Amino acid sequence: MTSSMFETSAPDAFGYLDRVAATDLGRSYKKQMLDELAVRPGETVADLGCGPGTDLGTLAEAVTATGEVIGVDHDPAAVDVAGDRTAGRSNVTVRVGDIHELPLPDRSVDRARTDRVLQHVADPVRALREVRRVLRPGGRLVMAEPDWGTLTVDHPDSGLSRAYTRYVTDEAVRNARVGSQLARLATDAGFAVPGVIPLTPVFRDARAADRILGLERTARRAVDAGCFTGEAARRWLDHLTDGPFLAAVTFYIVVAEPQDA
Ligand SMILES: C[S@@+](CC[C@H](N)C(=O)[O-])C[C@H]1O[C@@H](n2cnc3c(N)ncnc32)[C@H](O)[C@@H]1O
Repeated sequence: MTSSMFETSAPDAFGYLDRVAATDLGRSYKKQMLDELAVRPGETVADLGCGPGTDLGTLAEAVTATGEVIGVDHDPAAVDVAGDRTAGRSNVTVRVGDIHELPLPDRSVDRARTDRVLQHVADPVRALREVRRVLRPGGRLVMAEPDWGTLTVDHPDSGLSRAYTRYVTDEAVRNARVGSQLARLATDAGFAVPGVIPLTPVFRDARAADRILGLERTARRAVDAGCFTGEAARRWLDHLTDGPFLAAVTFYIVVAEPQDA
């Protein structure tokens, strides 16, 4: 099932996050999240599920020396890397913590962001209630999440692409459709939702798409899970490497503000 074009083994997790952040798409949606956060100097901003600290430097510049940035992640290895990367910034602290039970006092944060975190958590509404607890009145949360159910990979045998998308939504990603659900879930958690911004990147280059979507690696896992036969996966991948390529997926930036308690 191998092709020389696609990656066959998973990249290092932090390297992958850095790689996505460095693409035009990564830079553009992260800038849009920052614009929606509307951070002011002196404010306290929390990046929840901060990973290796990809966004902490930009947030530190936005709050200036009079503000504070707090990165939280449940993965100690990510927190170590984020801490190393921000060691020279006195207004940034990074700590280990679960978004369902944040190590932050009530009403202590002006702005919070979650960037592709809620698709992975055990209970998105509980996580959102917890974010609401730590936000001050007048605060704001900006989230970015995909809806993997919208993933389209063009192929003459559309059933093969449907099987692939079904594997991603039903097996590979815990809350695969959370992007489309965020407005409802945030409302359930006590937020008003003034903004929902859909973004649909269209990939015309198979290799570039694979660097973000992991097409071959994921197809292999789909075969192991019994969602694809090995022969079907080979047919699917062969065509993707040969023909004109098109894939697209919609993800959402959602702005949420705590409703009065
Ligand atoms: C796709 S990565 C995104 C990292 C970062 N936000 C970025 O944009 O580069 C998802 C991150 O969420 C963290 N995460 C997942 N579940 C979490 C939880 N329950 N509490 C805190 N962090 C969590 C993971 O450890 C990982 O670092």
